[in-house]
Amino acid sequence: MRFMSYDRSAKYYDLFGEKDDSAYYKELGMQYGSALEIGVGTARVALELAAAGVDVWGIDNSQKMLEIARATCAEQPADIKNRIVLTCADMTDFHLSTQFPLVYMASSVFSHCITQEDQLDCLTCVLNHLEEGGLFVLDLHLPEPSYTTALRLIDKEEVDDTVVVRWISNRAEYADQLLHTTLIFEAYTNGVLTERIIESSTVSLIYKRELLLLLDKAGFTIEHIYGNYSKSEKIDNLVVVEARPKAF
Ligand SMILES: C[S@@+](CC[C@H](N)C(=O)[O-])C[C@H]1O[C@@H](n2cnc3c(N)ncnc32)[C@H](O)[C@@H]1O
Repeated sequence: MRFMSYDRSAKYYDLFGEKDDSAYYKELGMQYGSALEIGVGTARVALELAAAGVDVWGIDNSQKMLEIARATCAEQPADIKNRIVLTCADMTDFHLSTQFPLVYMASSVFSHCITQEDQLDCLTCVLNHLEEGGLFVLDLHLPEPSYTTALRLIDKEEVDDTVVVRWISNRAEYADQLLHTTLIFEAYTNGVLTERIIESSTVSLIYKRELLLLLDKAGFTIEHIYGNYSKSEKIDNLVVVEARPKAF
């Protein structure tokens, strides 16, 4: 069961994509030398690793996101772009020709697995693509106690003579642990509305304990759990989990 859509708004992803996670993932990448990024999107993080000398294979199931990633990679110097391989694949069912010492999922990508079957299929795929003793890292925003359904403005960015504004509305179904989100992107060129994109999506609301149980069930042992990318032990609304395959 899948409900995610990044296609129509892919071109605006990086405009609003600023996050404080890159240094954390880059440090891990440099430690392990090569990595698989699941849900690579526009290659926002993968490019940071490649620029630091890390080979990265990124998979994503959105052709539009991959189009943006490929265009951005094409603009990089040869030594950087040659370190990135991009493949269209679903994170619940992928079979690459190689294994990796590091597999990571940045920006709550795991929440796009809606059912428990998808979650476990995804974790099994991760396990199958990890080298022996390799590291799996994922971050995940934890469910909030309440979400605002009313449409509200969240960002505004300027590109040349165009202002792009982003609106959001969320509706949580706590019983089924689902979050339905509507994002509206409006572009105003010289003050005139020139484009409106509406993206609707559903992600899974996954709690920390459930995530740890899923990882355990799939065959991982937890090495570290942090509350942010600076490795704080205090957990609030984000978890960053480092896990390894269980040794049998
Ligand atoms: C929030 S974006 C994160 C992109 C990137 N990891 C980053 O941090 O900038 C989520 C990404 O997951 C991808 N995605 C969602 N469901 C997926 C699936 N079933 N298989 C592969 N990728 C998926 C989306 O297309 C999107 O590019």
